[in-house]
Amino acid sequence: MDRIERLCAFLDCCRVFADVACDHGYCAEYMLKNGLCESAVISDISEKSLAKAEKLLSEFTASGKCRAVCCDGLENIDGADEVLIAGIGGAEIIKILQNAYIPEKFIFQPMKNAKALRKYLLQSGCKIICDDLFTDGKKYYFVIKGTRTGGGQSYLKAQLEYGKDSLFNPVLKSYIKEELSKKRGYLMRGLSESAQAEIQDEIRFMEEVLREVDRNT
Ligand SMILES: C[S@@+](CC[C@H](N)C(=O)[O-])C[C@H]1O[C@@H](n2cnc3c(N)ncnc32)[C@H](O)[C@@H]1O
Repeated sequence: MDRIERLCAFLDCCRVFADVACDHGYCAEYMLKNGLCESAVISDISEKSLAKAEKLLSEFTASGKCRAVCCDGLENIDGADEVLIAGIGGAEIIKILQNAYIPEKFIFQPMKNAKALRKYLLQSGCKIICDDLFTDGKKYYFVIKGTRTGGGQSYLKAQLEYGKDSLFNPVLKSYIKEELSKKRGYLMRGLSESAQAEIQDEIRFMEEVLREVDRNT
């Protein structure tokens, strides 16, 4: 199964779905084709990217079920009751939220900096409903799903690092094992003593999390 298929499995049925930074528009296509939303908004900062999605979804646009908006993040997006932002970095997602607003219901799939995004959402009072990871067999992807309000959750270090549901997901074991072998590789590179000590601390923490996931799964 590819990334898009696995990612779409996290999407819920809604009235208006927004696929922000949609590029090709495959996630909006999934929602519309499967009757999971009444209508969709597709948006991208790049006209060229958005044109791909407009082409893919032309039939839905013609019937008034899809609307395309070329804009930065959520700048010109309103009225959506479920917003997906996938395939860009966690720092970029934070910037989009800071420049506009946190959607009432969101699904984020950051390509990196998932920890910073979790931290930001928790500090902003969001409720994180699902905080998991999946793999397409080549790479690993974190998915953070939640609501703007209802927060007040406190996360432990491992939950912040990997997501609270990931700790019950065997996929996290393979992810951590791969990360561990990278970290052990860094130790062979003749780093300074302080850099080595930092990596050794990280390795100990990852081994601890690995044991926790082993117990949980
Ligand atoms: C790798 S594609 C991801 C496409 C799709 N969301 C997915 O997950 O497969 C990244 C897309 O994000 C768009 N993008 C990057 N920054 C953006 C921003 N601030 N606002 C809107 N779109 C953005 C890019 O133009 C590009 O089309």
